[in-house]
Amino acid sequence: PQVCWLAPEQTAGRQKPYMYTQGQAVLNRSFFPGFDTPSVKCPYSATVQVPEGFTAVMSATSWEKQKDNTFVFKMSQPIPSYLIALAVGDIVSADVGPRSRVWAEPCLIEAAKKEYDGVIEEFLAVGERLFGPYVWGRYDILFMPPSFPFGGMENPCLTFVTPCLLAGDRSLADVIIHEISHSWFGNLVTNATWGEFWLNEGFTMYAQRRISTEVYGLAYTCLEAATGRALLRQHMDNTGEDHPLNKLRVVIEPGLWGVNPDDTYNETPYEKGYCFVSYLAHLVGDQSKFDAFLQAYVNQFKFQSITADDTLGFFLEYFPELKEKGVDSIPGFEFDRWLNTPGWPPYLPDLSPGEQLMKPADKLAELWAADGLNMEAIEAVDITTWRTYQLVYFLDQVLQKSPLPEGNVERLSKMYPKVSKAQNAELRLRWCQIVLKNNLEAEYSKVKDFLHSQGKQKYTLPLYRAMWGGSESARALAMETFSATAPQLHVNVQNYVKKILGLEVAE
Ligand code: BES
Ligand code: ZN
Repeated sequence: PQVCWLAPEQTAGRQKPYMYTQGQAVLNRSFFPGFDTPSVKCPYSATVQVPEGFTAVMSATSWEKQKDNTFVFKMSQPIPSYLIALAVGDIVSADVGPRSRVWAEPCLIEAAKKEYDGVIEEFLAVGERLFGPYVWGRYDILFMPPSFPFGGMENPCLTFVTPCLLAGDRSLADVIIHEISHSWFGNLVTNATWGEFWLNEGFTMYAQRRISTEVYGLAYTCLEAATGRALLRQHMDNTGEDHPLNKLRVVIEPGLWGVNPDDTYNETPYEKGYCFVSYLAHLVGDQSKFDAFLQAYVNQFKFQSITADDTLGFFLEYFPELKEKGVDSIPGFEFDRWLNTPGWPPYLPDLSPGEQLMKPADKLAELWAADGLNMEAIEAVDITTWRTYQLVYFLDQVLQKSPLPEGNVERLSKMYPKVSKAQNAELRLRWCQIVLKNNLEAEYSKVKDFLHSQGKQKYTLPLYRAMWGGSESARALAMETFSATAPQLHVNVQNYVKKILGLEVAE
């Protein structure tokens, strides 16, 4: 069942069926027999025959179409099993760079090309300068059907992404930069067990923000990181800081105390992991020295699977003066505490370079949260020039202050159609969260439409949680929306929603 078979209505074009696989974390064992653990790496090849009028693509370094609609793929580098991926559908491609093309259904290909034409190469080049050679040959992007559960999946040579990235203005490129960063952290140096998933994602978040800083500057990158920190806050508030999943090193085991690796996908490995890597950089104190360390680290462990002990051991070896100082055991910041204690990160990187972008948004959110709105002050702020992430940050602040005094959200909605009628998925998510937190029934249809239009897990679960925690009518909206959209959702996402709604989950 984890090989996803989609009916024509579940695709963007609605003409032909589609199939794809999603290997991470432990789903590929239902796709092919093998050692389905990230601690084992090997090359692979595959021969795939498809019906007339379909194209097959895989995470492979080379491919060839032979007679009888047969595609032959080869991945010449050793990779862990979870990175083997296949998609078959009515898909076509367009070049967007010297080693990159986009793949999508014919009705999306123009938009896909326009979104990323000429920008991918810069991301790759900056990545190579920072972290060393890009070893995978091509970097292509496949735009998936709307029910794809993730923003992106770093399948080597061919990242799979949600079609929500087609915002028209390149504003969601951080997802592409993230997946590109996995080319070094995750795909080259891999977590040996899913209990140390943060090694993949925390280092990748750090690498993503390093590339972003080089391309877009520090202010913008700090703003993006601040929205990440807000997500970590929300996650820890939802689960409780002491939840066992809020440790970087998670105990994976069947039974009461262990967890299923698929369930470790939350903000902790990403954003707390990012804080830990930032803390290591802070200990070093010099960005270029830390960059050099990252490059040496990749070179040392490339094509291997490792644990955090390997990473931290190498760090202390690379910086013997830090080892001598005993930086691994500074009270309150012990490496062991970072790895094994749940809760809020003991160190947070300084995001103040983003303040020039955050302050105006903070102020505006305060104005909107006040009793008796100061319309003069509100009208003096021109948000039409704000970048998407500045709006996202503003909406996160509004959400935190919600419910707002009676009537304020209605006025906000009327005043900023750019926000309340946004097509951009990150803005739509926040707007829907605000609608629910303020129980704005007049705009429930936006929540419904958004959940019908896509099935990304990080958008779907927070909205169902908000509906289920809300009024009677919000709960009814949840039930109605879920029964209409369940068949379109990825099985894992379906099961998580069922848990939220207190419905029975088939084992
Ligand atoms: N590898 C992950 C997606 C994933 C994680 C799939 C765990 C299955 C299990 C991917 O690189 C990722 O992190 N995607 C993020 C991107 C974001 C952090 C920019 C996503 O989908 O939201
Ligand atoms: Zn990732």
